[in-house]
Amino acid sequence: MTRLAITGATGNLGRLVIAHLLEGGTAPSDIVAIVRDVDKAAPLATSGVQVRVADYTDPSALVTALTGVDRLLLISSSEVGQRALHHGNVISAALEAEVPYVAYTSVLRADESDLQLAGEHRTTEELLRASGIAFTLLRNGWYIENYEGTLGAALEHGALFGAGGDTKFAPATRDDFAAAAAAVLVGADHEGATYELGGDERVSLAELAEIIADVSGTEVVYTDLPEAEYAQVLEGAGLPAAFASILADSDAGLAKGHLDTTSGDLSRLIGRPTQSIRTALIAPIAQLELELA
Ligand SMILES: NC(=O)c1ccc[n+]([C@@H]2O[C@H](COP(=O)([O-])OP(=O)(O)OC[C@H]3O[C@@H](n4cnc5c(N)ncnc54)[C@H](OP(=O)(O)O)[C@@H]3O)[C@@H](O)[C@H]2O)c1
Repeated sequence: MTRLAITGATGNLGRLVIAHLLEGGTAPSDIVAIVRDVDKAAPLATSGVQVRVADYTDPSALVTALTGVDRLLLISSSEVGQRALHHGNVISAALEAEVPYVAYTSVLRADESDLQLAGEHRTTEELLRASGIAFTLLRNGWYIENYEGTLGAALEHGALFGAGGDTKFAPATRDDFAAAAAAVLVGADHEGATYELGGDERVSLAELAEIIADVSGTEVVYTDLPEAEYAQVLEGAGLPAAFASILADSDAGLAKGHLDTTSGDLSRLIGRPTQSIRTALIAPIAQLELELA
């Protein structure tokens, strides 16, 4: 028996990874869901998955949760600014609990990316290298779902704003990134590998606006803004200033190609083409149209 553990197991990506493991035939009792909120994990417990509680800020709980684990998927923390600390705690606990293998959800081109978000991923990758634990880097690109929050405004006002210029990027669905993580957890020969993960379909933000327009039947025009102006637009739409700044910075990184890849690693790992952007947007756009009607 190989015991697989997943941190962030109650998050969007974590839940999908566990669903892929179960679909692929992993026994629920071989899966350890590491969560910080036991109530949120009730559906996982019901499915027979072992739920262990450990906050990323609690080193001793992490050691207990990781005891007996053979392969760990460390899903990056959602607390930007605290992530290097959180991930460092998990890696130290994995060492203490003698976990032999860790796969980590990093970001595309983490070693060279100048996205603000990449810094903590880079630090985590360095911590993993220094730990001596066998590891795999799953350098995830942008989720297509990141655009779900802006679809409403795009349909209502016929406008998509951004600061990505006309550079292409390679987004993919969370579900495809989750399928890749599950494949790496149960697969062989991934130790030491760095996967640059993105969708097969590469688009610019203007092309993304065209897909939204096509799926919705509503005219949507992309307007490219300087980074600072885009941050102001996001703030004006109600986002906290710090988050608006990170998103605008990410678009500036997109413009430099930091969210693009032609590696083919994602479709290779999941054994099929990645889901098309158009297909991924059909359900959220239909839902919005119902809400706006
Ligand atoms: N590639 C992209 O486009 C993209 C976009 C957004 C985020 N990300 C990164 O990818 C990660 C996974 O994405 P996601 O969609 O699954 O995000 P998510 O739904 O926000 O999940 C984040 C997970 O981290 C857990 N977590 C946060 N702080 C924790 C702490 N102190 N101790 C223990 N667990 C903690 C959360 O626990 P709770 O369930 O209890 O909240 C949640 O399960 C994110 O955390 C972020 O680092 C990538």
